[in-house]
Amino acid sequence: MTTRRGAALVLSEPMLSRCRPTSPAGVTSVGAAAASAAAFEMAEEETAYAYTEGQATLRSSAHRAVYSKTRKDDPGPRVVVGALPSRMRDTAVFGVDGPALRALRAAVVNLLDRAGADVGSWPASASASSSSERDLEDFVVPAASLKDLRGSARGKKFPRGPANATLAELVVQDAAFLAAFDALIDDAILPNLRSRLAACGVSLDVAEETSAKDAVGASGGTMRRRRVGYVQRPPTLRIQPGPSTRYVRPHSDDEYGHQDGEINFWMPFTSSQRTRTTLWVESERGREDYAETGVDTGECAAFHGTSKRHMVPANESACTRVSLDFRIGVEGFYDPKWVMRGTKADHDRREVSL
Ligand SMILES: [Fe+2]
Repeated sequence: MTTRRGAALVLSEPMLSRCRPTSPAGVTSVGAAAASAAAFEMAEEETAYAYTEGQATLRSSAHRAVYSKTRKDDPGPRVVVGALPSRMRDTAVFGVDGPALRALRAAVVNLLDRAGADVGSWPASASASSSSERDLEDFVVPAASLKDLRGSARGKKFPRGPANATLAELVVQDAAFLAAFDALIDDAILPNLRSRLAACGVSLDVAEETSAKDAVGASGGTMRRRRVGYVQRPPTLRIQPGPSTRYVRPHSDDEYGHQDGEINFWMPFTSSQRTRTTLWVESERGREDYAETGVDTGECAAFHGTSKRHMVPANESACTRVSLDFRIGVEGFYDPKWVMRGTKADHDRREVSL
């Protein structure tokens, strides 16, 4: 496992030249392969932003929190152990590359391939190539799909627009995508989480009291079993097109009812050198000293999003960022039954052995 922060992003002209050129109309001109260096030089000097209104990203999650009068009486999560060890709150970037990640990326391409016009599409030139050769950076989202409807759609499940609802449906119904996600969790995420917990002195075994009739042996009354992890499933798929002036505002996830006993995971499928945007996280709650996580393709960032404010700057490039994020609650530190009052459409969870 490696931990790093504040890695400098290096702009790579040859890579950028594979992205589509910008268009003032918000509809990308295509022929990405033919995009000339001149077009990008122009974009660098005087960016014609295609996305200037609404949300920065399309997202497949409907999780949100609204005001609730009864929240002041909410006792909060009931946890057996208490707060997570402070080192579990550190931001860490670790490698996840391998067959599971490649299968998941291919599943994302296949999912977006049949997303429909409101979510987006690939330019004709990219559509001709096989899905394994298709670049997610070239995926195009219509500017109108990012329109925020909150004022006119109060109380609706997806007030931020129908494209989010379409994306959510695709994710929930895509068995291949979910199987690939589960495999990545088992093969690459859980081993990292286990080793970090163990390094912090958190035992992966727990003692469970048993009733008298279940007790076995002279020491009956307790049995040992593996600590449980609660994996948010499905994960949230996010698409941040550019060039855009829209950004993900600094926030902490306790605003949305997330608990101290959860660890956030964030992984990009697109190159940060091409999109020139990535996740930024503060070092301690309230410090606002945001630093780039430096996470890039083949890697995953773990961070404590419940307490540490985080943000994603505007994607000013002509490439699209696609990323996946989810959380894992740790038994003893996380209450699987608690839901913050006023929270709508909470995430489902898969239980795993830590
Ligand atoms: Fe967040």
